[in-house]
Amino acid sequence: MIRRKRGFQFSGAHVVVTGASRGIGHALAREFAGRGSRVTLVARSERPLQVLADSIGGTAMRSDLSDVNEVRGLVARIEDAAGPIDMLFNGAAQLLIDRPRERASATDLVCGVMTNTYAPMELTRQLVPRMLARGTGTIVNVTSLASIVAVPTLSTYGGTKAAAGHFTSALQREMRRTPVRVVLVQFGQVETDLAADSHRRSPLLAAVADRIAKIGFMPELTPEQAASSVADGLACGRSTVVVPRRLAPLHHMREIPSLINDLVLIGLRP
Ligand SMILES: NC(=O)c1ccc[n+]([C@@H]2O[C@H](COP(=O)([O-])OP(=O)(O)OC[C@H]3O[C@@H](n4cnc5c(N)ncnc54)[C@H](OP(=O)(O)O)[C@@H]3O)[C@@H](O)[C@H]2O)c1
Repeated sequence: MIRRKRGFQFSGAHVVVTGASRGIGHALAREFAGRGSRVTLVARSERPLQVLADSIGGTAMRSDLSDVNEVRGLVARIEDAAGPIDMLFNGAAQLLIDRPRERASATDLVCGVMTNTYAPMELTRQLVPRMLARGTGTIVNVTSLASIVAVPTLSTYGGTKAAAGHFTSALQREMRRTPVRVVLVQFGQVETDLAADSHRRSPLLAAVADRIAKIGFMPELTPEQAASSVADGLACGRSTVVVPRRLAPLHHMREIPSLINDLVLIGLRP
């Protein structure tokens, strides 16, 4: 079992949200600021970041997370500009659509893998030693239902998200006896550009969403609803936040082999 650490104290904390220019990241930044945090916003689109930063009293930090050179040293630049980071929320991602005869382009493939998988890993690499030295810190990574369920047209996107999710589950175990908390957030369907784009570019995904809506299995949430659920989960100290919660059994099923291995690891330290 994963030991629960203290719930996140939003008031007065410095939180970094990547992917804050729109969608869930934008709503999360507002939600965290509303709970008393100072928020640093990261994305490529300078204007929406600045508008949001002005409205919540945060800091805009334009960065392309698919560019190794821009990710290099990013944690140090953020901490120099806005102080020690209490929570990093790795929310930025790019959608990739693949078809049997039309794979995602070479450029999109690099951008997607770098943004969805490399950037959360590299920012974690930069931040963990700083958080360990300070004796506190939270790192949050985001996965998707497409990281658990193998969906045609989402092979690359789902693959990048599965990698980020697996990385996070193992990282939780590496950080178990340290003051650094690692949280996995998994979303179902949230009404954002990414979701609309997936339906527009993949008729199959639009049809699946339509079927799911008809049986009422998975409600499509607004970004604000998703952000509020995530903030509640973080405040409660959950190590995994599944939104909507009815999808949690899928996450638990995926965890079974790792939970069995936890028994094998009893008494051993990384
Ligand atoms: N919406 C859903 O139904 C759903 C479901 C499951 C999981 N998720 C996950 O939830 C998270 C948020 O998704 P969303 O639906 O809010 O997506 P979205 O509306 O498309 O927003 C994506 C955000 O990521 C930023 N971003 C993309 N590429 C970037 C790059 N190279 N460097 C820096 N920032 C970059 C975008 O800003 P710029 O374009 O300005 O850079 C934007 O702020 C993602 O991790 C996604 O995989 C969403």
